[in-house]
Amino acid sequence: MEKGARIAVTGGRGLVGSALVELLAAEGFEDVVPVGREECDLSDVPATRRYFAALKPDYVFHAAARVYGIMGNMKNQGLSFYDNNLINTAVVDAAHRAGVKKITVMGTGAIYPFPPASLPLREATVFDGRPHPSESGYAHAKRAMLAMLEAYQESYGTRWAYIASCNLFGPRDKFDIEGGHVVPSLIAKFRSAELDGGKVSVWGDGSAQRDFMYVKDAARVALTVMRELEGVVNMGSGSVWSIRQIVEALGRITGLGDRVVWDASKPNGQAYRAYDLTRLASTGFACRYPIEQGLQETWDWYRGQT
Ligand SMILES: NC(=O)c1ccc[n+]([C@@H]2O[C@H](COP(=O)([O-])OP(=O)(O)OC[C@H]3O[C@@H](n4cnc5c(N)ncnc54)[C@H](OP(=O)(O)O)[C@@H]3O)[C@@H](O)[C@H]2O)c1
Repeated sequence: MEKGARIAVTGGRGLVGSALVELLAAEGFEDVVPVGREECDLSDVPATRRYFAALKPDYVFHAAARVYGIMGNMKNQGLSFYDNNLINTAVVDAAHRAGVKKITVMGTGAIYPFPPASLPLREATVFDGRPHPSESGYAHAKRAMLAMLEAYQESYGTRWAYIASCNLFGPRDKFDIEGGHVVPSLIAKFRSAELDGGKVSVWGDGSAQRDFMYVKDAARVALTVMRELEGVVNMGSGSVWSIRQIVEALGRITGLGDRVVWDASKPNGQAYRAYDLTRLASTGFACRYPIEQGLQETWDWYRGQT
């Protein structure tokens, strides 16, 4: 990617998009355009087509989506399918019509079959079974984007990469206790306990394990993938943490570890999801941010906002 190339980042004010915009600026890219709702409603197909035709990006990072956590995905299956399908269809088609050199999109590990066709999850197995029912609306919309990219490559020669992402966290996440992802909702709970002197009620029993990655590393993965890889690429740190370990780390960081109570009546989510990282590792990529550092930076950022 040339330093003067015009690079559109959809969702450029969200968790992943904003980290990417910062990274691209730090790497010396001169013409980076964050595209959020202020610029264009990306679920409006004709408006998105007009917007991209005028913008004429050379490259597109697509990180706009309707994103929830586990409870949000369960409660909003229809909305998640509908919005994400519209947004992805609009963006992939508009990027193609605008003649982009390559589009790299954010997918999700939720697209993988459940039970897994392989463990660790391998890119080639995405379509080998139905996704987990708790987030099938979201997962099917994300699978449809993958099918669309394959079809556009076949029909129009579109160049693309699709990042099947692990669990991410960082500044500018949605710190939503009910509908958010696990780390930001935990951080919001710890902050609220700090402010009101109450308890930190944690869902599940803490046994669920996930591959977590700090968003600054995720942005580095996205840039690496745009530069060096095609097709589906798993994104993970390779370090698997249980929710209990994350809670304990946040307890140390916040000094509020003694306020934690576990609520086993709430869902744990899938027990374990680890990714085969052979494709990403082939680029020489290695994480720079230990999870504890990411948690500390995210806590500090959120505390400064509330
Ligand atoms: N966070 C994770 O742990 C994780 C894990 C796996 C995959 N991913 C994927 O990574 C991508 C980025 O996720 P994220 O966590 O960065 O989400 P996010 O923080 O919610 O950011 C998404 C951005 O998309 C924008 N957006 C949504 N609908 C839009 C529309 N109709 N028009 C224009 N902009 C719109 C949002 O703007 P508003 O805030 O104004 O709605 C927001 O800025 C998504 O594809 C997600 O599925 C994330």
